[in-house]
Amino acid sequence: MGFAVHCSWLAALLCLHFFGGQVCCDCTEENMEIEGGHYTLTKQLQKGSLLIYQCPEGYYPYPVMTRLCQHNGNWRMAPRRFTPQRCRVVECPDPNVMEYGEVSPPQDKYFVNNVTMYECYSGYTMRGSARRVCLPNGKWSGSTPICSRESGHDCADPGIPAGASRAGNIFGIDETVKYSCNSNLFLVGPIERVCLENGQWSGKEPACYYKHTYDTSLEVSQAFGSSIRESLTTLESLNDTQAGKTIRISKNGTLNIYIAVDISESIEEADVKKAKDAIITLIKKISSFTVDPNYEIVFFSSDLYEVVNILDFFDEKKVERNTIINILNDFQVGQKNTGTDLNLVFKTFLERMAIIKLQVGKEQFKEHRHVFILFTDGAYNMGGSPEPTVAQIKNMVYMNHTVEQEAQSREEYLDIYIFAIGNEIFDDDLQPLVTGLGGKHYFRMKEITELQETFDQIIGKLSLKKTEGRSKNCIGSLVNPYFVLTAAHCFTFGNLPEDVKVEIDDGQGRVKKVKNFIPHPKYKINGKENEGVLEFYDYDVALIQLEEYVQISSFVRPICIPCTQETSDALQLVGVSTCKQQEELLLKNDLERVSFLTKRGTAVDEKDAHAKLGGNRVDCIKHALEAPGITTTDPNVAVTDNFLCTGGRTPFRDHVACKGDSGGAVFKNYEHRTIQVALVSWGTKDLCGSGGGIVESDQTSRDFHINLFRVVDFLKEILGNDKQDEYSTLEFLKD
Ligand SMILES: *[C@@H]1O[C@H](CO)[C@@H](O)[C@H](O)[C@H]1NC(C)=O
Ligand SMILES: *[C@@H]1O[C@H](CO)[C@@H](O)[C@H](O)[C@H]1NC(C)=O
Ligand SMILES: *[C@@H]1O[C@H](CO)[C@@H](O)[C@H](O)[C@H]1NC(C)=O
Ligand SMILES: *[C@@H]1O[C@H](CO)[C@@H](O)[C@H](O)[C@H]1NC(C)=O
Repeated sequence: MGFAVHCSWLAALLCLHFFGGQVCCDCTEENMEIEGGHYTLTKQLQKGSLLIYQCPEGYYPYPVMTRLCQHNGNWRMAPRRFTPQRCRVVECPDPNVMEYGEVSPPQDKYFVNNVTMYECYSGYTMRGSARRVCLPNGKWSGSTPICSRESGHDCADPGIPAGASRAGNIFGIDETVKYSCNSNLFLVGPIERVCLENGQWSGKEPACYYKHTYDTSLEVSQAFGSSIRESLTTLESLNDTQAGKTIRISKNGTLNIYIAVDISESIEEADVKKAKDAIITLIKKISSFTVDPNYEIVFFSSDLYEVVNILDFFDEKKVERNTIINILNDFQVGQKNTGTDLNLVFKTFLERMAIIKLQVGKEQFKEHRHVFILFTDGAYNMGGSPEPTVAQIKNMVYMNHTVEQEAQSREEYLDIYIFAIGNEIFDDDLQPLVTGLGGKHYFRMKEITELQETFDQIIGKLSLKKTEGRSKNCIGSLVNPYFVLTAAHCFTFGNLPEDVKVEIDDGQGRVKKVKNFIPHPKYKINGKENEGVLEFYDYDVALIQLEEYVQISSFVRPICIPCTQETSDALQLVGVSTCKQQEELLLKNDLERVSFLTKRGTAVDEKDAHAKLGGNRVDCIKHALEAPGITTTDPNVAVTDNFLCTGGRTPFRDHVACKGDSGGAVFKNYEHRTIQVALVSWGTKDLCGSGGGIVESDQTSRDFHINLFRVVDFLKEILGNDKQDEYSTLEFLKD
């Protein structure tokens, strides 16, 4: 992608030259330098080489991001004497658009790291973030602050995103609001939102972007992940017409996924490899759902390389996932072509769809969903605009419904996602091509290298090894980018959030500030002092909310917790699943092998133990009576049903938990996922000494772990709380 001359009427002349094929002269590096940054060249000083300016984080190249070496040896966008090329500080859109409140400090412009505070006039209450920071990607942290008061409207005041204006002040059912962006900014997301019958606004809040505004890979993976997950789970469930969300279709549906990657001239071989790896990651992620999609995969410049043909999936010979991955891996870009033909991609997809329709018949085709995923910068210089082809595709999927209402009912069958990647993105050409209900479909990213990470984060598969955050002498597990789950006893009475430090074990020892910690309301260490239990650890769980999210990477990822949709997906439970089903799968045997982690120095090791359930439980928990501080004669007083019991030497030698292991996840590996079933709370003996590490249990030593299935209400109240918009929620099962 990248270099292509964009054939607007202005560039038409240049294109003619371009195809003339005359070699003229190389470009020169004269006056190319950038103040505060540097540049790279894709093909030295030859024609067609793209010069890309680079600035440090928090800065962007100005007045241009790239220059192209043209045929005549001149740079497109020649440097100008009076506006020297330099690195400018990143600016964020104007936040002084908030109604019924005040922004401080008032400034003309807001730059990276500038902090703003928001306050509502009296009588108004605030939703969203009261404090926001201008981030290096040109966006404000947190969410749009909105001041409103109870007005009896059907929908809540949707607010005004920074840099935008909104038309429409009536929030009744079927009323619409329209957005536009102020000078220098452009709108990403829906231009219009409608107040739906369920009291929600349609679509997602749009945002105003500068040309230097990018989505971070975490933002992209969360947004794209939740959309694609919706497409995937749609096909898993039969009858769920949840208000506001996509209407579910029958299981008979088929999912066709069409992927296209722009590999026009300026793209380097290494980037093509990265794009391939990213697609492989995506396909693997998707395969952890029970849906079995059909794939069409193409790479394109002026030609189109069809790597995987979707029609093969409709022949008798079924295409295996591994075959797709092998084909992808083997694909080599041959002769590079000048030119980029984006329309050819859509035309090819349209042709494939027409053939599928012929093969399966009109009725069956109705049940096909189509998901397009495109990676491009949008600079096409041949083939013309893809818009008419996209209109034909919509026509085919929407079944030529002319009545708007009917067309709408078919909208869920077509999603077009565009990942706009590059230093110079043609947003005006690309944005009109995206389509689909629900979440965001248009993403802006700087580098193709971010893709792999993005898809890695999607759908929350994980390797647990390094998911641990640490607080004081405890460990915890990351359950979403903002929350660490740990034991309540890790905090002492009177601790303030600023007393608690969370170190993210990502190899860089990053420390995160704590915004809040929330122990289980029923946790009461001295609750049974009178009953012969000096320290009572029932409900020993707490959630730590972080000030800022943890950057998800291959080292740090959230773990699955019970009673969430994600865990059902991991367990490959089909249809509407329940908490009980999950528990029966994960803790079904009288002896259930579980693991937990221990940390010594910087090394993290996995310990093994066996939860004694059913008939084994009584024998296991009776040793609680040998713990110091316990004088009761009934072990059930100290060890309630909320605990799992491990330890001892028969039939297996378990590892024991050491002091520093408290709060850590007790987990099970299931296929490719890790699911936390409990967390380390307390034990009867300290066999570890100060060193910790891997230590084996003796005959009577026992450890007790809080069974997460018994504290789901607490987890759900916080992690599933959708009455806030500081963090995205986990999807908990209804029962
Ligand atoms: C905002 O950021 C700019 C650029 O970094 C800086 O010069 C200015 O002092 C900041 N303003 C405030 C109020 O922090
Ligand atoms: C689908 O859900 C509706 C409303 O919950 C219910 O009335 C209907 O019987 C369900 N249909 C099936 C096939 O389960
Ligand atoms: C699914 O397909 C079968 C046969 O193709 C058909 O009998 C059945 O009615 C379909 N179910 C739904 C919910 O459309
Ligand atoms: C949709 O309309 C096009 C022309 O606009 C026509 O060729 C096509 O047959 C129609 N398709 C259906 C399914 O009615």
